[in-house]
Amino acid sequence: MKKYIAIFGLIIGFSLCLWAFNSLIRAQEEIITLKCSFGDVAFSHKLHTDLTSCQECHHAGLDTPKCSSCHTKETEVNPMNAFHKNCIDCHKDKQTGPTACADCHKK
Ligand code: HEC
Ligand code: HEC
Ligand code: HEC
Ligand code: HEC
Repeated sequence: MKKYIAIFGLIIGFSLCLWAFNSLIRAQEEIITLKCSFGDVAFSHKLHTDLTSCQECHHAGLDTPKCSSCHTKETEVNPMNAFHKNCIDCHKDKQTGPTACADCHKK
């Protein structure tokens, strides 16, 4: 009986790993669309993960990939400033990638 429980546990553990790994891969391939009252912003996550490290954007680690889990309208760095600084600063720095409002915000 114990043996079966152990095997069952292994299968569950393995499936969980696969699932976690899969969602990481999927996240990287996706076009992420950030909903925004000023116009939604879509960008290729994949293109960006090829360009730079995860930490460049997920500066607080990957346990909470959503920026809004920390950056809210009430915090010092609100979501708009967090994104504008992270995204636009790099585009300016690299002299490529959109920096004009309408190139990111699509109504
Ligand atoms: C150019 C910045 C940038 C880079 C580089 C980046 N990410 Fe992201 N990632 C984002 C943004 C922005 C979101 C959406 C966050 C939100 O909804 O608040 C996101 C979302 C995610 C999500 C959640 C996806 C979902 O559908 O909820 C995961 C998981 C993730 N990223 C993993 C990674 C990993 C792993 C890497 C490195 C291989 C990486 N990211 C590199 C910006 C980036
Ligand atoms: C686990 C919490 C957490 C998450 C998740 C998080 N941040 Fe932050 N971030 C902080 C804290 C704390 C600061 C320091 C300023 C403050 O207290 O608001 C900060 C500061 C920043 C700054 C300002 C840095 C500077 O030099 O002025 C930027 C830009 C930023 N975050 C972008 C992002 C982006 C983009 C994401 C999502 C990809 C993200 N953050 C996710 C906690 C977080
Ligand atoms: C570390 C640097 C860096 C960061 C951070 C970064 N970008 Fe970019 N981005 C680039 C570069 C470089 C290109 C041009 C790539 C090319 O044309 O080959 C680009 C291209 C783009 C494009 C056009 C291609 C596409 O994905 O559709 C969009 C839109 C974009 N970025 C949005 C964003 C957004 C939104 C953020 C913040 C969440 C962000 N970027 C953060 C470097 C960065
Ligand atoms: C590199 C892409 C990019 C560029 C360029 C850009 N933005 Fe944004 N902006 C974003 C992202 C990403 C967000 C955060 C969306 C969210 O709340 O999830 C944002 C948020 C905002 C918000 C906050 C809306 C809300 O619901 O709180 C306003 C307003 C805004 N941008 C205006 C502008 C203006 C004006 C310009 C030109 C001067 C501009 N943006 C240029 C990507 C960009």
